[in-house]
Amino acid sequence: LSNGLAKTPQMGWNSWNFFACNINETVIKETADALISTGLADLGYVYVNIDDCWSSVTRNLKGQLVPDEKTFPSGIKALADYVHEKGLKLGRLLVKSDQDRFSMKRMMQLCLPLGLDSNILSYTFEIVSDILHVIGNCRCLRNESTAYVVMELINDLYLHRYYVSIALKGIDYLKYDNCYNLGIPPKKRYPPMRDALNATGRTIFYSLCEWGVDDPALWAGTVGNSWRTTEDINDTWASMSNIADLNDKWAAYAGPGGWNDPDMLEVGNGGMTYQEYRAHFSIWALMKAPLLIGCDVRNMTIETIEILTNKEVIDINQDPLGVQGRKVYVSGKDGCNQVWAGPLSGDRLAVALWNRCSNATTITASWNTIGLESGIRVSVRDLWQHKTLTSDAVSSFSAHVDAHDCHFYIFTPSPSVSHSVE
Ligand code: GLA
Repeated sequence: LSNGLAKTPQMGWNSWNFFACNINETVIKETADALISTGLADLGYVYVNIDDCWSSVTRNLKGQLVPDEKTFPSGIKALADYVHEKGLKLGRLLVKSDQDRFSMKRMMQLCLPLGLDSNILSYTFEIVSDILHVIGNCRCLRNESTAYVVMELINDLYLHRYYVSIALKGIDYLKYDNCYNLGIPPKKRYPPMRDALNATGRTIFYSLCEWGVDDPALWAGTVGNSWRTTEDINDTWASMSNIADLNDKWAAYAGPGGWNDPDMLEVGNGGMTYQEYRAHFSIWALMKAPLLIGCDVRNMTIETIEILTNKEVIDINQDPLGVQGRKVYVSGKDGCNQVWAGPLSGDRLAVALWNRCSNATTITASWNTIGLESGIRVSVRDLWQHKTLTSDAVSSFSAHVDAHDCHFYIFTPSPSVSHSVE
């Protein structure tokens, strides 16, 4: 989406993976403080994203979502001010429509000004109340097309009210979820919100969270700044590596302005080993995925901090060329010895040797698999050891990689004379 944002993938923190619904304004403020005191903010993690469960289950009389009085008593604007004063940006998840109960009376108030015939209206109410009772399942509609039309009108009204309230409250980032979508396909559902956000006059990062429904990479480039390519991640090796594969398929569609989103980071949440988290972070960086931290940044282990603050890896993710790296070579049992690679600015390459087998093994990146001519001499910088291993690798580079670990390198071809080893 050309709204001037997302020149590189977004970086920040999101409450969902660690806190789920257990959030409140103190947690958000303490997180903002911790992003600064740990140095994460300086490294680029600037969005502080409140996910689900911030809002009350009922809207106010104006039809706007309102923060839960118990957990966010000072309101979102106060939180936005707090976070902005620190130089960070506040994001927020929109409408989980399943928290949003339309009342018949409210519906009447919304629909009558649209000039809908009262017979149609009462019929529609029946349909709508059916929809409301059948979460996420539209096959039960008696008349889908009528319901669609009416729901879209209603949706537009809600969007209108909602975007005004977003702009007023100082929001910089909107994650628009697909829950309780009333059967409206993502392709139709997401563009009106883009238009609504544009119309606020405020520049707001627009993150589509449609779980890969309708293959968003194919159409979302002009709709959002990122789009989810898969269902939700969880804090396991199986989920993380499976999602990496699914996201890889759409590599060609990512670029400055709009990125494939394989979901938020689980690094630091405890379900994977150090090596597995290192692989997770390396591959997300290489895939130009959003780097949205999903752990409790107020309480991180040294290992978690080491992973999340690895500037050399972050720099790969934020490289201005903005090309998503891909899985380029597999070998071994079930293809579990893998080479992932992609171009960087300055004619360099990011190369990951990822061992997805359960035994340590040697993995080789041959120049022909990563797009280099075999005679080219390459300097190899190890981004986890933080040192240059050789300045004259030719035709291939191999490393011994532990089970589920991932080595991550920058390859710099040296066209001419010498290249010094640091
Ligand atoms: C969906 C989204 C998640 C998260 C949860 C919160 O599952 O895909 O990222 O926002 O909702 O309920």
